Amino acid sequence: MTQRILFVCLGNICRSPAAEGVVRAQMPEVATDSAGTSGWHVGDPPYGPMQKAAIRRGVNLSDLRARAFVAQDFHDFDLIIAMDAENIANIEALRPADNTTPVQLFTHYADGPETEVPDPYYTRDFEGALDLIERCAAGLKDQLRRQ
Ligand code: 4NP
Repeated sequence: MTQRILFVCLGNICRSPAAEGVVRAQMPEVATDSAGTSGWHVGDPPYGPMQKAAIRRGVNLSDLRARAFVAQDFHDFDLIIAMDAENIANIEALRPADNTTPVQLFTHYADGPETEVPDPYYTRDFEGALDLIERCAAGLKDQLRRQ
């Protein structure tokens, strides 16, 4: 059973904290965290519009604070889940030699055509991002339960 999962996006204020919030609400037994491949928002809470959209679904993100993804995360987590292919490239650039921690796209766990979680910081579609994040989280939960 995977115990420690890290969610990663670019800023760590929209997609990955939302993913962390949804997954920890559904699977409290899993240790979750999130990080950004950039350090642009380190120390910031999740973006206000994302927090508002999430709380309408019963998901409270207010305690989360942004941090940057670091190479140590490969050692500290069993599974790293990225929101898009650019995140994966930036994560893989920091992989330590001989480390085999899996890095997976979140959309891998959802049925459907999506290959990334579009960034609502740019699209402004917070509801659509949360709809997809909830589908990905449900698929992740199914997969972990089967392990
Ligand atoms: P996120 O969205 O990667 O889902 O947290 C972003 C938030 C902020 C910025 C970019 C992406 N930014 O450029 O500040």
